[in-house]
Amino acid sequence: MKLLVTGGAGYIGSVVTRLLLDAGHEVVVLDDLRTGHAVALAPEATHVNAPIHEAATVLTPEAGFDGVLHFASLIQAGESMVKPEKYWEVNVVGSLRLLEAARAAGVRKFIFSSTAAVYGNPAEVPIPEDAAKQPTNTYGATKLAFDMALTSETFAHRLGAVSLRYFNVAGAYLRDGVAIGERHDPETHIIPIALQVAAGKRDKLQLFGDDYPTPDGTCVRDYIHVEDLARAHLLALDAAVPGEHKIFNLGNGTGFSNREIVDAAREVTGAELPVEVAPRRDGDPAILVASSQRARDELGWVPQKATLADMIGDAWAFYRSHVA
Ligand SMILES: NC(=O)c1ccc[n+]([C@@H]2O[C@H](COP(=O)([O-])OP(=O)(O)OC[C@H]3O[C@@H](n4cnc5c(N)ncnc54)[C@H](O)[C@@H]3O)[C@@H](O)[C@H]2O)c1
Repeated sequence: MKLLVTGGAGYIGSVVTRLLLDAGHEVVVLDDLRTGHAVALAPEATHVNAPIHEAATVLTPEAGFDGVLHFASLIQAGESMVKPEKYWEVNVVGSLRLLEAARAAGVRKFIFSSTAAVYGNPAEVPIPEDAAKQPTNTYGATKLAFDMALTSETFAHRLGAVSLRYFNVAGAYLRDGVAIGERHDPETHIIPIALQVAAGKRDKLQLFGDDYPTPDGTCVRDYIHVEDLARAHLLALDAAVPGEHKIFNLGNGTGFSNREIVDAAREVTGAELPVEVAPRRDGDPAILVASSQRARDELGWVPQKATLADMIGDAWAFYRSHVA
């Protein structure tokens, strides 16, 4: 297939691009590098340096695209509460421009990077896809809004759409001399922060709250290795059929506490890794774990790198080769 990958210079989009190329697809990356890295771009893909708002310049009816995988987004929940207008403009207005271009170009398949943030504070864990959607931040709200736009698009215009709701993505892609890992600035994710502390680039790791109703008192989250996540996108492309909007959670179904992350990071790095217990953050639920049963049953997806040792080990190998 000929595929347009938005956000293909980012952490997840650049790994998925490589798997798509390995599978024999032709890939054009649309990414204006606002948070991505040129070094992460796959050399075999064509790169168009433009914002998604201008998708129609690439996604023309003549270009013959079969599908779109849409990763480009602003992703910081905290920032989305102080600059919500930025998030609505990129994640909703930009995404609608892309969808409009896809419609005009006759694209049949559309895969969207959605998020666990659409659920907010869940009433039940593991969280199934049909749980109530009550995002507690603007980031989650913008992702939910576009999910809803996709539902009506598939119904009215016979698009085949799949939304993949990722939980916490971790680990790195290390193959054939290529290393791709997490490099967000500012970094807000606990594993790369733990590695920065281990490498002596930060003084300490803050644990926000240790009095939650969890086995060790710290928050429990679901982590998924970026390679496992990437493989699900190829399965989703096959599963996208006209007139249907399919939605899948992607997580391990097993939660790890923040303390378990710290212990595993100490084990992998051999560093002492100083920790400070800080007050709880507003809106942080005690436990967020996915039910990924639907992805297993309907996509045949099975995570292969499900342990913290796998995820943190690969993230550390990436960190040492590229960042430290
Ligand atoms: N990282 C996670 O743990 C996680 C969890 C849930 C969902 N997601 C979703 O996965 C997707 C990818 O996340 P990531 O961690 O790879 O982020 P990232 O910041 O590494 O990648 C995003 C890419 O999109 C590009 N981009 C952003 N806005 C753009 C625009 N308007 N026009 C063109 N390009 C633009 C950036 O330059 C960057 O290369 C996002 O949609 C995010 O919401 C990520």
